[in-house]
Amino acid sequence: MPARPFLKWAGGKGQLLPELTSRLPTRFCHYHEPFLGGGALFFNLSAAGRLAYGATLSDSNAELVDCYKAVRNHVEELIAALLAHEPHFNDKHYFYEVRAWDRQPGFLQRSLVARAARTIFLNRTCYNGLYRLNNKRQFNVPFGNYKKPLIVDPDNMREASRVLQTVDLRVEDFARVAERARAGDFIYFDPPYVPVSATASFTAYTHQGFFEADQVRLAHVFSQLAERDCYVMLSNSYTARARELYQGQPIHESIMASRKINCDGQKRGVIEELLVCSYGLQSEVDLQV
Ligand SMILES: C[S@@+](CC[C@H](N)C(=O)[O-])C[C@H]1O[C@@H](n2cnc3c(N)ncnc32)[C@H](O)[C@@H]1O
Repeated sequence: MPARPFLKWAGGKGQLLPELTSRLPTRFCHYHEPFLGGGALFFNLSAAGRLAYGATLSDSNAELVDCYKAVRNHVEELIAALLAHEPHFNDKHYFYEVRAWDRQPGFLQRSLVARAARTIFLNRTCYNGLYRLNNKRQFNVPFGNYKKPLIVDPDNMREASRVLQTVDLRVEDFARVAERARAGDFIYFDPPYVPVSATASFTAYTHQGFFEADQVRLAHVFSQLAERDCYVMLSNSYTARARELYQGQPIHESIMASRKINCDGQKRGVIEELLVCSYGLQSEVDLQV
């Protein structure tokens, strides 16, 4: 079985893969995913054999990137650490004990594997798989109370480790991609979205948050890369502001996404999202001749 995302991630693109993959450039060189999260498109491209020229995956969330490094470099130790957490999957007291590690001195001195196993265990057992930090940078999502959460799928972890072996993993702000990307590279941006209302959107993936100034910076990086003849694809909310930031791009359309739509997280609905591409169909024709 091809590797799938090993984390549940808010805004994960699993549901939207058919929409994304039907708009990929026909060919591209290196792949960059600067808002990595669960990495749904990366795993899909890898399974389709589309990463022959390598991939760079990055995110500003260091704990998240450390999970990928642990999967890549220490997969058997990580599986063992997760299997040790597994019997406690529905134990609220144990959840809060593990969650409290980052409130104790020496947290960062714990091994990469121990911290990654904690992140994955909390991701699988916390409320809705959210990742949220308070202003002291402590993970503060409550217990999810799931009857039978999947803590670890060893075969999937091993396969994820295999496909990550040659991948460059970085903790950095998305704008750094502009220092590396070359003509012909493909960049997929999946940022925290422009809020659809003053209260409705979740953008607290990191302690810094993601605000209007970041959306403007991102639109600028998008244009820079497009002018350099990179293939750039971006997801965002279908809001007037996001449409305005990317108007005039060759592909600028609304796609329908199935999303959790209320705070109990159980009800799903279909909502409109924006998909922008810096390349039109003519670039695919150009590449084929
Ligand atoms: C919508 S999620 C990406 C979801 C991912 N595509 C998936 O399929 O799971 C957005 C990600 O952006 C990251 N992020 C937030 N601000 C960032 C920044 N300034 N630079 C890089 N990454 C950032 C968050 O940590 C989060 O993982």
